[in-house]
Amino acid sequence: MPIGQKIIRLDAVDSTNNYAASMLQQGIVGHGAVILAEEQISGRGQRGSEWHSLPGMNLLVSICLRPANLSVDQQFLLTQFVSVSMVELLKGFSIEARIKWPNDIYVDQKKIAGILIENSLKGDCIQSSVVGIGLNVNQMEFNGLNATSMRLLKEQQFNLTDVLMSLLNNLNSFYDIFQRHEYFLIENQYEDLLFQKDKLCLYEDASGKFNGLLKGVTSSGQLVLQVDQQLKTYSLKEIGFIL
Ligand code: BTN
Repeated sequence: MPIGQKIIRLDAVDSTNNYAASMLQQGIVGHGAVILAEEQISGRGQRGSEWHSLPGMNLLVSICLRPANLSVDQQFLLTQFVSVSMVELLKGFSIEARIKWPNDIYVDQKKIAGILIENSLKGDCIQSSVVGIGLNVNQMEFNGLNATSMRLLKEQQFNLTDVLMSLLNNLNSFYDIFQRHEYFLIENQYEDLLFQKDKLCLYEDASGKFNGLLKGVTSSGQLVLQVDQQLKTYSLKEIGFIL
């Protein structure tokens, strides 16, 4: 079933990810179902943060996936497939975005979209996945957050349904590649689109700030930086970007 075959539109919900997970668990929806909300009362972000969005302004969406035979070790591929789809979606609106590792979507130095993927596992396999996406479309004010929107960048309002349809088209294209197991296509594109790729930039780890060249990622999703002529890998907790 293509992604978006079933779309559930809600006026308000706690979090579309919670709603999608519960519907999947109860077997009410399956692979490809999309949950869309005008407003989230307790939208969730990565690492326990909150996701705020003014009602009716932005895309707040969760996509239900049941990837066939995807092992837990391969879960970073889902992050890569969704991130690349998001950049392509924005390209379709003439917005050049990049992926700030692991899965923030940035335009220049500002965040335009966030992704929260929550997997449910069965043994070593991913049984189902809820892909939550918050894309800033028409919101103009972000209360001092380092964020931007399509409207701020293009100085025009966008129709949320058009943006959703374009998102679904891109997700379906990349999911086809995914299903054909042509993972290298997604991995290569993800690496090419990384924010600060091959640029000498400031990072921070437990021992302080340092300059590094972002070279890519490992297959499990660790960041690879070249520091003092040596390649080093970092997990999310071990490294921070200094913007
Ligand atoms: C991030 O912190 O960057 C991830 C943000 C993800 C937000 C989206 S909005 C739709 C979906 N429902 C949620 O509660 N969160 C995700």
